[in-house]
Amino acid sequence: MNWAHRHLLGIGHLRREDIFFLLERAGQYRDSLDESPKQKPILAGYSMVNFFLEASTRTRLSFEMAGRLLGMDVLSFSGNASSLEKGESFRDTVRTLSRMKFDVLVVRHQSSGIPEYLSDFLPQHIVNAGDGLREHPTQALLDLLTIQRAFGDFSGITVVIIGDLLHSRVARSLIKGLTMLDCSVLVSGPPTLVPQVVESMGARVVFPVEEALRKADVVYLLRVQKERQEAGYFPSNREYEYFFGLNARHWDMVSERAYIMHPGPVNRGVEIASELVECSRSLIEEQITCGLAVRMAVLETLIRQGR
Ligand code: NCD
Repeated sequence: MNWAHRHLLGIGHLRREDIFFLLERAGQYRDSLDESPKQKPILAGYSMVNFFLEASTRTRLSFEMAGRLLGMDVLSFSGNASSLEKGESFRDTVRTLSRMKFDVLVVRHQSSGIPEYLSDFLPQHIVNAGDGLREHPTQALLDLLTIQRAFGDFSGITVVIIGDLLHSRVARSLIKGLTMLDCSVLVSGPPTLVPQVVESMGARVVFPVEEALRKADVVYLLRVQKERQEAGYFPSNREYEYFFGLNARHWDMVSERAYIMHPGPVNRGVEIASELVECSRSLIEEQITCGLAVRMAVLETLIRQGR
């Protein structure tokens, strides 16, 4: 395979064959995570910096863990307690960081487009770990890997994404990936948070939620973001749970072969009933392990093949 990318900036930059290439490598890593020892120090001597200017548990820790399992030196850097607090500009801070001569910069930032901006003037490989409302490519890749391993294939699969499509970089990246692999994507949720414009990305908007759920092979729930309720997008968490959440009544409408997914962090009892988080059809915990495998595959591919 001819890997043509120096960075991982978004799913929108990848070709279908790039996605399959990463999924194949990530699948091998996923298998190896059930064995001992898990360390494969093929990237010993390389180093990475995790630069996170927004909260994160899963993404930050799994990038860190992925780097370590491959033998890399890993530094983590968060905006607070740095010179950004003393008024140093973002550009000067990253230039300073960059002179430490490490190989990969993993970045999460509240502004859309920051990874591209950095890739213009830094010599490191840049990996987007979530930029504003735009993209979260490793999340989409881990979701695709989870789906591929659950179903064996992508053809004929319908994924129903429910929730805050308006503000979700997770959904944007996932819709791009799923449509590239010929899955059907239906989206639903509170009409204030499900813009028709997602149809231009290949998804279909379906109201009410019940109608979409009946067609689902995967029910993919997005986090209800507290700050959205304050902005008046929906009246209360109770109403959200009743009309749009995956509760027992909604779960009864879904096919028995369907799975549940969620990128985390989960609000139990809001977008999903607590008992469904760990039920036998839930892939939520498997997504986390697939995330580690995907990040190992991404680091290896960029360092070994990224031009
Ligand atoms: C998401 C994010 O930060 O974009 N979480 C994640 O990376 N697993 C989704 C969210 O915060 O709702």
